[in-house]
Amino acid sequence: MSSNKQASIGIFDSGIGGLTVAKAVIDALPNENIIYFGDTARVPYGIKSEETIREYALEITDFLLSKGVKMILIACNTVSASAKNDALEKAGNIPVLDVITSGTKTALAHKSNSHIGVIGTLATVNSKAYEKSIHAITPETKVTQQACPLLVPLAEEGWIDNDIATKTLGNYLSVFEHVDIDSLILGCTHYPLFKDVIPGVLNSGSVEIIDSAESIAETAKNTLKELGLLNENGGSFSCFVTDRPQRFQQLAERFLGRKVSDVVITHL
Ligand code: DGL
Repeated sequence: MSSNKQASIGIFDSGIGGLTVAKAVIDALPNENIIYFGDTARVPYGIKSEETIREYALEITDFLLSKGVKMILIACNTVSASAKNDALEKAGNIPVLDVITSGTKTALAHKSNSHIGVIGTLATVNSKAYEKSIHAITPETKVTQQACPLLVPLAEEGWIDNDIATKTLGNYLSVFEHVDIDSLILGCTHYPLFKDVIPGVLNSGSVEIIDSAESIAETAKNTLKELGLLNENGGSFSCFVTDRPQRFQQLAERFLGRKVSDVVITHL
């Protein structure tokens, strides 16, 4: 394990979605150095096979390990659903945290959780990873899932609050109209980008919207503290992407509300 406090935390996703996690990590751990990896050449992952997702996840894990990271955050539900164990194995004794474990924990901490809704990519929904993870803790909780494959391309395009985004969400979320869910897990890290629109479309003020970003950031902080690896003198944020770095930079700056000057194109 990298015992170097200055070593970076590696965060990865297929594209910009994992920035929702990066943002929470920067807020919780402002003195950490962060390396963000967005596989922008191969996004979306959610419509690909498990084998392909696994292959991509292992390549990225290798890349982050080659940068000497002290911890890896899988900021992608699709990868968490299909390749978490593979990434864990590859990382050896470097801690690897994933968004499905965090999302489940947050949803179950909510006061009523007799029926939980989950939206995610096709791969995440087909894997039933959330259902399994929720039922491992509370087998009696009902889970209703809905795949929303068009949301990732819309988010990558920056179409997060226009008419097309609202109509698309309306279509997908209509499945929850006649089921009484207590909370809705945003089971894809791109979906918090639609956070302002979703409550209106869902048309139910009592449904708690669950985003795993803050919870994974808190777990990261506690884990580093336990390991004596908290950094007090860092604070850098650098990005590696597999395509279109300028475009990524623009979207990242808009989303994070800060300058992102360090975006490097890389080929795995
Ligand atoms: N943001 C990712 C997730 O949480 C991946 C979406 C995709 O590439 O399809 O599932």
